[in-house]
Amino acid sequence: MADPNAHRLWIQEALNLQLSTPDDRTLGQRLYDALRSGIQQGQLSTGHALPSSRQLAASLGIGRNTVLGAIDRLVAEGFLVSRQGAGVFVAEWQWDPQARKVADHTAPVALSRRGERLLDFSASSSERHLAFAPGVPALDRFPRERWQRLLRRHQQRAPIDWFDYQNAGGVSSLRDALCDYLQLSRSVRCRPEQILITQGAQQGFELIARLLADVGDSVLMEEPGYGGAQACFASAGLTLQTVEVDEDGMNVASLAAETPSPKLIYLTPSHQYPRGATLPLSRRTALLAIAQQHGAWIIEDDYDSEFRYSSAPIASLQGLMDDAPVIYVGTFSKVLYPGLRLGYLVLPPSLVDSFRRINARLHREGQYVAQAALADFISEGHFSRHVARMRKCYRSRQAALRRALAPAVARGLELSSGHAGMHLVAYLESHEMERELVRQGNEAGLRLSALSGYYWRKPGQPGLVLGYAGANENDIDRAGRWLSDAWLSIAREVTKEKTPYEHRKGKNAGG
Ligand SMILES: Cc1ncc(COP(=O)(O)O)c(C=O)c1O
Repeated sequence: MADPNAHRLWIQEALNLQLSTPDDRTLGQRLYDALRSGIQQGQLSTGHALPSSRQLAASLGIGRNTVLGAIDRLVAEGFLVSRQGAGVFVAEWQWDPQARKVADHTAPVALSRRGERLLDFSASSSERHLAFAPGVPALDRFPRERWQRLLRRHQQRAPIDWFDYQNAGGVSSLRDALCDYLQLSRSVRCRPEQILITQGAQQGFELIARLLADVGDSVLMEEPGYGGAQACFASAGLTLQTVEVDEDGMNVASLAAETPSPKLIYLTPSHQYPRGATLPLSRRTALLAIAQQHGAWIIEDDYDSEFRYSSAPIASLQGLMDDAPVIYVGTFSKVLYPGLRLGYLVLPPSLVDSFRRINARLHREGQYVAQAALADFISEGHFSRHVARMRKCYRSRQAALRRALAPAVARGLELSSGHAGMHLVAYLESHEMERELVRQGNEAGLRLSALSGYYWRKPGQPGLVLGYAGANENDIDRAGRWLSDAWLSIAREVTKEKTPYEHRKGKNAGG
């Protein structure tokens, strides 16, 4: 509940503002009108306490009797109630339907064409359905106390400059720590100066799209692919050219000869999102050659490479050669938590200064205290310990999901290999089945993500993207058993309709 003192102050300020411009009405009438319209418009709602008449008179610079006169009128009319010894409060009040109309901000408003397109990518609900939500890490396992200690340490030590506007590209200790980590763990070729800290990978994509491509330029993207990147490129006015994904990831050889020369090539080579393949070396070198041939930039989105379960992380595409035409994009949304809004770009030296300056202009930098805490989190070893713990945790959560889905798998439900990452893909027979499972899931309080929704060109392949990292094993087990039963009962219906039920085996590629 909001602090009542702060609220009283706010009322005083609002009234002050309203009475500060002179007009023909008496002060008492104006105070009465201002209070009454605040109550009718809902800014002052039932139960709100008014400042005392003495406080109001002093802060508004008017006589106390004037204040008492206005308040008495509103009490008499039933807008306010006076409680002996407690003060004056906004009364329980029936909304005037006309006033409600004024306060209704939900009526549809015409958006731009770009806005309408973006709405398609934007979730309509803010509810949290953790079982199956793709890309959500184990928030319950984040070491909050340690993180709080580091934040406190840096909050206390923060130089006064950190409260000013920033344009350094990020706190230097974080860029140093990240540089060490990326060189060792991801074979990224970089120096700390090449790192630009952003508010998440999404802001990195935005910058790249706006700084390196013009409206109408073409960007090659994996199909299916990451909706956040699709939305960003589409809203920047770029033309999305989709490239089919097979069991080895982006199939560069499938590009039609007449495909327009791309300015950007976006992909997730370590762990294709959402299907899970790892791009082999031969395709990586082919891709580098294509980028060089067209003078295009590759955007390497390395969003979750820390979580591999059967082999060491794959070296980055950026580190394959000197001066690779690659911008490496990283995020802390998966390893720590998405609400942190910290990510980074590793830029070629020739782009660093422009990106840093334009980022400071477009988005402003910030969160230097959190950045400094994160630098310590990495350099003191908490980061690698947390990653190791999470790897173990996600492996068990995935195993729990597989156990729960085993009855359906025994009857033909096909799952991706899950050698890495935070989700599995369940491939489905048809779009009807996908729609029906999503619908039933909604009714059961589970958010099921349709695989076809990850396709830029519809209809795409039917399936479900099942995040397992964000929910504990009990919840995953419950949700997984629900899904297994739901799939089995739909599959039984299908079997009745076309006996014998034929499952299209081997139709699905990808990890
Ligand atoms: C493929 C991919 N890239 C990047 C991100 C991270 O984006 P951000 O750092 O903006 O949270 C996500 C998160 O869902 C993702 O799935």
